[in-house]
Amino acid sequence: MPSVLPDGEPMPDDGALPPRALEGAGERPLGFYLHVPYCATRCGYCDFNTYTASELRGTGGVLASRDNYAEQVVEEIRLARKVLGDDPRPVRTVFVGGGTPTLLAAGDLVRMLGAIRDEFGLADDAEVTTEANPESVDPAYLGELREGGFNRISFGMQSARQHVLKVLDRTHTPGRPEACVGEARAAGFEHVNLDLIYGTPGESDDDWRASLEAAIGAGPDHVSAYALIVEEGTQLARRIRRGEVPMTDDDVHADRYLIADSVLAEAGFEWYEVSNWATSEAGRCFHNELYWRGADWWGAGPGAHSHVGGVRWWNVKHPGAYAAALAAGRSPGAGREILADEDRRVERILLELRLREGVELSILKPAGLAAAGAPCRTAPRPRVVRGGAGRPDPAGRLLADAVVRDLVD
Ligand SMILES: C[S@@+](CC[C@H](N)C(=O)[O-])C[C@H]1O[C@@H](n2cnc3c(N)ncnc32)[C@H](O)[C@@H]1O
Ligand code: SF4
Repeated sequence: MPSVLPDGEPMPDDGALPPRALEGAGERPLGFYLHVPYCATRCGYCDFNTYTASELRGTGGVLASRDNYAEQVVEEIRLARKVLGDDPRPVRTVFVGGGTPTLLAAGDLVRMLGAIRDEFGLADDAEVTTEANPESVDPAYLGELREGGFNRISFGMQSARQHVLKVLDRTHTPGRPEACVGEARAAGFEHVNLDLIYGTPGESDDDWRASLEAAIGAGPDHVSAYALIVEEGTQLARRIRRGEVPMTDDDVHADRYLIADSVLAEAGFEWYEVSNWATSEAGRCFHNELYWRGADWWGAGPGAHSHVGGVRWWNVKHPGAYAAALAAGRSPGAGREILADEDRRVERILLELRLREGVELSILKPAGLAAAGAPCRTAPRPRVVRGGAGRPDPAGRLLADAVVRDLVD
């Protein structure tokens, strides 16, 4: 969740949606994202909407405290129930992200999930994920989460090399994320993800291979690998400007991506989105697929974004402002935009082009169709795959931005 909020029209105090947003809702899956905006320390590369204790001191008083955070999120889930009205859909996915969700007591995460279960009901096959920092969990904590209904967990591993973790300001030791996978499996988690970052200044190809191999060896059924983005305003950007560490390099990123794809494929992981690989369909992250396929999701928590039936809105950013809005009985929404049909079409192309299944031909206009070259017309739903005509290969995936410009015409 990026920390800069867009402009938009104001959100009504009661958070009500235009009736059109709820039309046909029963046919779309519904997910919840619960944001936890706290971290023990801030990693120098991270621009997410998260706060350390010292960053919060004096800015939101007791309201911004993490002690009563779960209760605030429960309040927003109750608001969601009112706004979505008689919507009969049980929730298909819940994803608790951060920040560091596992800085909260396991019971707090279970309580927030319980509110979704009470207000909406959970689908029988609901996917319930939390992100976790490797240094912040132990077997008892993981057992409590599993017992409370979480069935998927995503650990921020980033790298297996100490010198890379140091540049990233990560506080866990090499080997700890891999041990976490074993602890999560022992606790009964069906699905486990490891997040990796490539292209960190000072990382070599060999370091990256070692990270991939360590991740695979730990036995997750999902791996996400992201190119390190140097976000403006971060400590990492300042260090690069001062010449303390070298700038990241696009060509290096491209090479590392190709290494990731081949090492993961050899180990039985299939890519299904540009940055995501899974050992089977069941191992894919269905919650992320809701985002990529333009389904409905409610994002609770400071700065969280939501989307229901073509209406997108976002909450106030600061934990103090968030708590204050809920305490006053107001929606924490800061603004919203009602997407025009053409906006939704372009967005669908942007997102679907990242997916293995590609973009459905039926949403392209004649110019976009012509640019698509020779798409796969024999598929059950004719589509253009990433990289243009019939090129779902890794090199094609790297060309996405150029392809997308032609397809949206
Ligand atoms: C924001 S973190 C939240 C979860 C948890 N606190 C952690 O750090 O693992 C989610 C993931 O975003 C990715 N991420 C955050 N900032 C990034 C950046 N500047 N470049 C690339 N990946 C980034 C990391 O891989 C991280 O695992
Ligand atoms: S622990 Fe995760 S969310 Fe927190 S600062 Fe580091 S990358 Fe960002």
